[in-house]
Amino acid sequence: MANRIMLNQTSYHGAGAIAEIANEAKAHAFQKAFVCSDPDLIKFGVTAKVTELLEKEGLAYEIYSDIKANPTIDNVKNGVAAFKASGADYIIAIGGGSSMDTSKAIGIIIANPEFEDVRSLEGVAPTKKPCIPIIAVPTTAGTAAEVTINYVITDVERKRKFVCVDPHDMPIIAVVDPEMMASMPKGLTASTGMDALTHAIEGYTTKAAWEMTDMFHLKAIEIISRSLRGAVANTKEGREGMALGQYIAGMGFSNVGLGIAHSMAHTLGAVYDTPHGVACAMMLPIVMEYNADCTGEKYREIARAMGVEGVDQMDQETYRKAAVDAVRRLSEDVGIPAKLEALKEEDLPFLAESAHADACAPGNPKDASIEDLTALFRKLM
Ligand SMILES: NC(=O)c1ccc[n+]([C@@H]2O[C@H](COP(=O)([O-])OP(=O)(O)OC[C@H]3O[C@@H](n4cnc5c(N)ncnc54)[C@H](O)[C@@H]3O)[C@@H](O)[C@H]2O)c1
Ligand SMILES: [Fe+2]
Repeated sequence: MANRIMLNQTSYHGAGAIAEIANEAKAHAFQKAFVCSDPDLIKFGVTAKVTELLEKEGLAYEIYSDIKANPTIDNVKNGVAAFKASGADYIIAIGGGSSMDTSKAIGIIIANPEFEDVRSLEGVAPTKKPCIPIIAVPTTAGTAAEVTINYVITDVERKRKFVCVDPHDMPIIAVVDPEMMASMPKGLTASTGMDALTHAIEGYTTKAAWEMTDMFHLKAIEIISRSLRGAVANTKEGREGMALGQYIAGMGFSNVGLGIAHSMAHTLGAVYDTPHGVACAMMLPIVMEYNADCTGEKYREIARAMGVEGVDQMDQETYRKAAVDAVRRLSEDVGIPAKLEALKEEDLPFLAESAHADACAPGNPKDASIEDLTALFRKLM
């Protein structure tokens, strides 16, 4: 089977990149923007950095902000109704994964109304038309939803998050401007950054990985490990590195998939509302240890990309441990806890079954049984 690569039509990178939004809107002859952004971003004036530009250029827009972190089916349904009432012809998604994922689901349903129940979009849904054009402007450096064909929605009633994989949702334009991320507090910078590292490492070791995606993932691991501590300290180099590193990880994993660190993180997000990046960071070293014997030489390259010295002189056991240790050290240095207090023994059967059914699980290099997943969750206690 051929390997497929899908990316944005156009992407802009670097400080000040948001200035290109108005140029692109005009070049596409868009008439009115439906700006999707969450309430905190509006409160902290992050969304305004873009809407002020639109106003200056005389471009019409309307804001939709009924979006919570780990966005829900209702957030999507309300957004579809608001879009229909707005008269808009494109979406500007401003925010983290939650705002961008909600935008994708809205854009898909407007173009493919037969999926208006939202749940039927789970997995690889047979949509027929590309979504409403999206210009995606990330404000976290983590999910890379601006360049992925995935989005994740929470089903509150059934206590689960579901992953939708659909090439029709790819934003036509990504505007990756580190200045949009500078207002992130330390904890959010750390957790979203660890999400990006998890994408790079799971994407590198997933079953469908191949030479071109390995290139993206190894480069992403290198840039993220070099930049995350600086980003948490809010240095310019750190912010720039994380903006780029997380995007490069997205160029890879979107095209090949992830693994069970993400399956388990989705479950923790749905059951305890654990922030996605925190859940990923907690699971990553535990899952790396579990997967090690199915990853060939790959952990040597992960250790090398993370700056571990002398990896060529190490035997397999040593470089595998060095890679996991480097991940643990980075996670600790940026202040992520290793244990999840909310986790209860009686929840384990539901958690393990839910993670087993998650769309990311089949990509894991080792097939994890429900018993394996239970044992891995228990390590968080
Ligand atoms: N589409 C994908 O490929 C993909 C990949 C990974 C994760 N996800 C999903 O993305 C969601 C998580 O997204 P996220 O981690 O980017 O966070 P988020 O979008 O949920 O935002 C978390 C919080 O951070 C705040 N915030 C965001 N940017 C800020 C900034 N610059 N300054 C101050 N506050 C800011 C938001 O207002 C919000 O309160 C989860 O639902 C996850 O499952 C999607
Ligand atoms: Fe993620």
